[in-house]
Amino acid sequence: MYAGRRKRRLSQEIFLMSARRLNFCLGALGATLLTGCLEKPLSTLDPAGPAAADIAQVWWVMLIGFTLVWLLMVGLVLYAVMHRKRDGKAPRRTLLIGGGLVLPLVTVFALLVYGIGSGQGMLPLPTGEPVYRVDVRGHQWWWEVRYPDAAGGQRHSAGELHIPAGQPVDVHVTTADVIHSFWAPRLGGKIDAIPGRTNVIRLFADEPGTYYGVCAEFCGAQHARMHFIVQAHEPDALAERLAALDRPAPTDMTTHGAQAFARDCLACHSLDPASASTQPGPNLADVGLRRTLGSGTLPNGPDELRDWLANHQARKPGNRMPDQNLSADDVEAIATFLESLP
Ligand code: CUA
Repeated sequence: MYAGRRKRRLSQEIFLMSARRLNFCLGALGATLLTGCLEKPLSTLDPAGPAAADIAQVWWVMLIGFTLVWLLMVGLVLYAVMHRKRDGKAPRRTLLIGGGLVLPLVTVFALLVYGIGSGQGMLPLPTGEPVYRVDVRGHQWWWEVRYPDAAGGQRHSAGELHIPAGQPVDVHVTTADVIHSFWAPRLGGKIDAIPGRTNVIRLFADEPGTYYGVCAEFCGAQHARMHFIVQAHEPDALAERLAALDRPAPTDMTTHGAQAFARDCLACHSLDPASASTQPGPNLADVGLRRTLGSGTLPNGPDELRDWLANHQARKPGNRMPDQNLSADDVEAIATFLESLP
């Protein structure tokens, strides 16, 4: 009698637990949708090209597929709890083999085939159409960007990738120091930047526009401030933007600002977009055209540029640029000099 009551209470508890879990999952799903993660600038669920669309599809297939499997399992548990027989026999062997072996094997194999098919689109395979190339190198904590096929020869920049819309783009990714991971979620998959290796990932933007990327592998104190921008252009606009990198470094270095820059900054930051030297800081040839400073730490504007020069260690603590303790006068002169660059 007592044992019977205890079993009944156990059944009720299992039922309640399952109901609570269902409630939690539906709540989490609802919250996910409500917080609008579908349309955020870094959302994999808002793809802007075919490679990213494949990833989003895999995500939805897995979410829906496994929700159905989970509902089936909850249903079976509830069925088993409610229909227990005191003299019930162990389930038949066919049920064990079917449900425990065949079903998972078939499901996992189907997912494997589907996943390989989807992953194929992210590989840099020849497609017959021209592929645009950008080289990217991770640094603690910024992205060096090179255009090996630019009109006038290889050009150097940082923090922003300018690519053609409607054309596959192969990004050759490596690192100057630790492991980073290059990820522009709306345009394609994610790939690690590994010392001594170059990995290639294919991105594709259907439409011109601004897309965002992050470092997706913990790489030190300022991992969270290692953003980049991918700007997809129409062909003419792309040529125009890259033309900003088709000029020599300034030759007039006699102004106060130029001299202060030469004294405090030039050892690490080149102003020559064609310079192949591996300096520790970002090439600043087109800094005036970039949209952020410090790899997404601040928007790029006159006030922010001066703020960055004076307070970069406060804005991005631990960044590799030493605190120069620039005087207000030098900050103003260097900012004015950088702003005067074509
Ligand atoms: Cu670079 Cu995280």
